[in-house]
Amino acid sequence: MSFFEVTATDGQARTGLLRFANCTVPTPIFMPVGTRATVKSLWQEQLEEIGYELILGNTYHLYLRPGRLIERMGGLKRFMSWDHAVLTDSGGFQVFSLAQMTKFQEDGVLFQSHIDGSRHLFTPESVLETQLWLGSDIMMVLDDCPPGDADERRMADALNRTHCWAKQAMTEYERRADRGDFDPSVQRLFGIVQGGIHESLRLESLGVISELPFAGIALGGLSVGESREDMYRILQAIGPRMDATRPRYLMGVGTIPDFLEAIRNGIDMFDCVLPTRNARNGQALTSNGALNLRNATHAESSLPVDENCSCRVCRRYSRAYIRHLFQTGEMLGPELLTYHNLAFFYGFFAEARESIHNGTFPAFFEKWNRIPY
Ligand code: GUN
Ligand code: ZN
Repeated sequence: MSFFEVTATDGQARTGLLRFANCTVPTPIFMPVGTRATVKSLWQEQLEEIGYELILGNTYHLYLRPGRLIERMGGLKRFMSWDHAVLTDSGGFQVFSLAQMTKFQEDGVLFQSHIDGSRHLFTPESVLETQLWLGSDIMMVLDDCPPGDADERRMADALNRTHCWAKQAMTEYERRADRGDFDPSVQRLFGIVQGGIHESLRLESLGVISELPFAGIALGGLSVGESREDMYRILQAIGPRMDATRPRYLMGVGTIPDFLEAIRNGIDMFDCVLPTRNARNGQALTSNGALNLRNATHAESSLPVDENCSCRVCRRYSRAYIRHLFQTGEMLGPELLTYHNLAFFYGFFAEARESIHNGTFPAFFEKWNRIPY
């Protein structure tokens, strides 16, 4: 049985299956973000109840804290009691967005922890090593993701570095698999395509990364400050040209309109903090658009968060109650909205998959594209 299988297509959109050691996950799929070995405010039971089986963790945070403790506790999944699948990001992106000082050195990036200022070096080999002891089902290569407004020189440097690091990561992955350090049919490595909003750089990067035997290919460096038009132009130019036999992962995206455009162009996997982060700020994502439950208009509303949602929150609680929880700073407010937002995203993706199976993706696209997000 292969790791990834496309079971139906509708135009460029595809639906398929990702097979892990403990579970099989349908695509297109959204991965909730569990940066520090927790999807903030939710119990693992609640994620399971919604239907999630694949979540994301962050190598950068987990390496810094609690570090090797996780290895001694039997790996990330055992540690957090998650008996399904985990993808970990490499730390490349987080080093550039969170660390206090970064400097390229030899074959890696030197940085200071955002927690205590301690100095660390990430190399393509070291972040692979970390993800091996974390026990991730999908490991991401170390990449260099410059900000959206970086100049051409920085952009070209980043691309070269990303490509060198990808080759080094794959060499190390194969060397350690051959040595029997881990099981390559359990822990797989994905490559990351960079190149900003430049179509030619993106195509060059896609060529270099696709040549390496990665189990999947990711698009990085999008949703980092560029315009929506630029992002969609890159999705249209690159998505359909990505190897059709491997899963395609759009990193750090995003919103319902972004999902529609990406799925339309053949993307299979997504992650984003938006549904969980915005929930903590009182924002509910619904089938009629976004609403903020802190708003006074909901003060006396006995409606559920989303009248078209059958999640446990919408079956039981009113907007007025959830607004009260936010008004009083009660911790149940963020928890309830996080649950609903993740249930809402889950439902959206389930409907997307079904529409591709039924050949009705264009109608699905039109229906959701009319809703203001
Ligand atoms: N998450 C969102 N964007 C990126 C990216 O470009 N690289 C990595 N490693 N993670 C990301
Ligand atoms: Zn709901």
